[in-house]
Amino acid sequence: MILSAQNIGFTYGEQGQKGKFIFRNLSFELKQGEVLGILGPSGCGKSTLLKVLYGVLPLQEGKIQILKTLYQARSAYPKNLKKEIGYIPQNPALALNPYFEAKKALMEPLAIYKGSFHNQVFKEIFDTLKLPISLLQLKVSQLSGGQKQRLAIARALILQPKLLLLDEPVSALDVSIQAETLKLLYAIKKKLQTSMIFVSHDEQVIRLISDKVLRF
Ligand SMILES: Nc1ncnc2c1ncn2[C@@H]1O[C@H](COP(=O)(O)OP(=O)(O)OP(=O)(O)O)[C@@H](O)[C@H]1O
Ligand SMILES: [Mg+2]
Repeated sequence: MILSAQNIGFTYGEQGQKGKFIFRNLSFELKQGEVLGILGPSGCGKSTLLKVLYGVLPLQEGKIQILKTLYQARSAYPKNLKKEIGYIPQNPALALNPYFEAKKALMEPLAIYKGSFHNQVFKEIFDTLKLPISLLQLKVSQLSGGQKQRLAIARALILQPKLLLLDEPVSALDVSIQAETLKLLYAIKKKLQTSMIFVSHDEQVIRLISDKVLRF
C-alpha cells in the first residue's frame, strides 16, 4: 500500500458552522503503481486535498498512511516524507522560485534532499517534455506558462519519487505537448511503478491515465 486515507476532513477557517467545509469522512487507497484520478468541478476541493496530502495544509481529521509513515490529524507532517513525494501544484509558478535560473530551480530538490543526479533520467524527462537544454540558462521569470509547467513536472520527477501528486499538470499545455506529457507520465508509471494521484477537471485525461477515479 502506498497511501491509505481514512476518514480525513478539512475545513477552511473555523471548524464547525462558521468555517468553509471542504470534505469530511473521505477514505481512499492507492496501491503501488496505481494512478488515482480525482475528478470534480471547479471549487470542489481537489487542490485542497492534494495540499493536505503534501502537508501544505494541516490534516484536521482522520489519518493517512503514506508510504511507511502514519500521519495523524493535528500532528506535524512527517519528516523525510517529502523526499519521496513529487508534488506539482496547480500553479506551477508556486513550485519555482522566479529569481532562480531554470537549472537551479530544476535541481533544487536534489540540493534540499541530498539526492543524486542521474543524467539519463534528466535527459529522458527533458526530451519527452520537449524542453530545450538552452532553457536551463534562463531565469524562471523569463519562461512562458507552459514552459514553467513543464519545468515543474521535470522538477517533481528529478528525485524519482515513489508517489507523485499532480494538480492539473497538463492544463496549460498545447494539445500535442499535453499528449506527450501524459505519455511520459504513463511510461513512468509502467517503468518505475510510480504511484500517482492525478487531479483534473478533464474526464478524458482522467480516463487515459487512471486505474480508478475518485469523484468529488
Ligand atoms: N485559503 C482559502 N481560504 C478559504 N477558502 C479557500 C481557500 N482556498 C480555497 N478555498 C475555497 O475552497 C474551495 C475548494 O478550493 P480548491 O482550490 O481546493 O478547489 P479545486 O477543486 O481545486 O478547484 P479548481 O478546479 O478550480 O482548481 C473553493 O470554494 C475555494 O474558494
Ligand atoms: Mg484546483
